[in-house]
Amino acid sequence: MPRNLIDIVDLSVEEIDELIATAEDIIENPAKYQDACAHKQLATLFFEPSTRTRLSFESAMLSLGGSVLGFSSANSSSTAKGETVGDTIHTVSCYADIIAMRHPKEGAPLAAAQVAEVPIINAGDGGHNHPTQTLTDLLTIHREKGRLDNFTIGFCGDLKFGRTVHSLVNALSRYSNINFVLISPTELKLPRYVKEEALKKKGIPYTQTTDLESVIPQLDILYMTRVQKERFFNEEDYLRLKDSYILTPEKLVNAKADLSILHPLPRVNEIAVAVDKDPRAAYWRQVKNGKFIRMALIMKLLGVEI
Ligand code: CP
Repeated sequence: MPRNLIDIVDLSVEEIDELIATAEDIIENPAKYQDACAHKQLATLFFEPSTRTRLSFESAMLSLGGSVLGFSSANSSSTAKGETVGDTIHTVSCYADIIAMRHPKEGAPLAAAQVAEVPIINAGDGGHNHPTQTLTDLLTIHREKGRLDNFTIGFCGDLKFGRTVHSLVNALSRYSNINFVLISPTELKLPRYVKEEALKKKGIPYTQTTDLESVIPQLDILYMTRVQKERFFNEEDYLRLKDSYILTPEKLVNAKADLSILHPLPRVNEIAVAVDKDPRAAYWRQVKNGKFIRMALIMKLLGVEI
């Protein structure tokens, strides 16, 4: 059976720590890895739009000496003719050694893994999970803070539909002494199933608030998110909630000097461009890290050792 990554908890904490160590070695010694996946092919099957995830996967495979194939929208594949996900995956398994797949339906990558003969990587499934963004976030936190434990992290924005938040809360709940501050409008709170499984069952403390400014001074990490327009059932609700939080330099006046500001991107309006100049803004470094952790993951799932 191939090894897949559907949910971040498919990886043990030890495996995540190993992936982070490999990614950090790739950053220091890229030449060592340049032929690691020679003659291997990665397929990127994106049934939903993407910039970072798809291109970082492709860049990752090319930097490992492999090659890439795939499509960037459902309309440019035979999905538009009515082909099922299962048949698409069965087909692509004949051409590629590993598949990264994004789909608007929650659970689609899990269904794909049940028919695939090659590893499947969930590159985002609806409002559910985004485990490779979580690996990117963990690598970024490790590089910014030097640790993955003992900090207070604030998640701000659309915690209901934001799949990156769900995966990261799950991942961080396995590290020690993390204090979670959940900042969202009432309508966009973290789903109950995530709170139950990741926090309540493990007795992990968390606070919920609608007020970003009142909690900013206590945060070591602020994880901003976009309000997920594409997951709303009506536009009126989206328009009412979309600008609930806009991070500006003024709002950071009382923040810690060593705060790290993360955002999975794309950003719409929730971080003013003026914040980009602040050394605490880590989101462009986070984008870069996404390529290196995906290189480490591709090697792991293909069983490549250096
Ligand atoms: N963070 C992220 O998933 O970005 P894309 O939607 O551009 O892939």
